[in-house]
Amino acid sequence: MRTLLFINACVRGERSRTLRLCKKYLSTYLAYHPDYEIEEVTLNDIQLRPQDRDELDRRDEFIAEGDFSDPMFDLAKQFMDADHIVIGAPYWDLEFPALLKIYLERVSVSELTYHFFGDHVDAHVSAERAVYIMTAGGYTIGKNYGYDYVQGLFSFLFGIHRTDLVKAEGLDIEGADVETLLETAMREAEEIAKE
Ligand SMILES: Cc1cc2nc3c(=O)[nH]c(=O)nc-3n(C[C@H](O)[C@H](O)[C@H](O)COP(=O)(O)O)c2cc1C
Repeated sequence: MRTLLFINACVRGERSRTLRLCKKYLSTYLAYHPDYEIEEVTLNDIQLRPQDRDELDRRDEFIAEGDFSDPMFDLAKQFMDADHIVIGAPYWDLEFPALLKIYLERVSVSELTYHFFGDHVDAHVSAERAVYIMTAGGYTIGKNYGYDYVQGLFSFLFGIHRTDLVKAEGLDIEGADVETLLETAMREAEEIAKE
């Protein structure tokens, strides 16, 4: 079986509209790609600590020794092995929840996930495609820093050159027809998931 890795940064859990969109994408993807199974990392449920000085020192020692057996590298290895990556994250403060940034720092491990040569990067990641699914209370209007960052990181460090964006915007604007906005985004999600 191939693996779709679902990185769930929908902090509000079952109340999350972003999670509803993700579920539509995931169920459609499985229907059209029966050789896939889903592995989910729910960022709410794992104790992700920011990489402070001590943690970084420990990590650097392991990297220098080429020893990636410590559990601190488990998320990175799971990420490297996935065949398709899906991120679900609400639009927070023009970006995404901090939990997702910590996760991305944890999977960006020099000499493991990628090798930086100065003029180019060798990525050690299997996935060739990713999808970023989000909802926003207002409109991102040229300030979708979360998606832009993920797209840039994935392309530059991980060799994932295609990261599609699925979004529903304006959900918190007074008078918004939330269901219609979500249904429109769900149709977009379905189209991308069928590919
Ligand atoms: C901490 C926080 C920060 C937010 N920042 C923004 C923002 O910068 N711009 C915006 O349009 N909406 C912002 N919102 C609104 C969310 O984007 C919106 O409610 C979104 O649909 C939440 O997704 P969810 O239902 O999946 O939790 C913010 C909401 C929260 C809780």
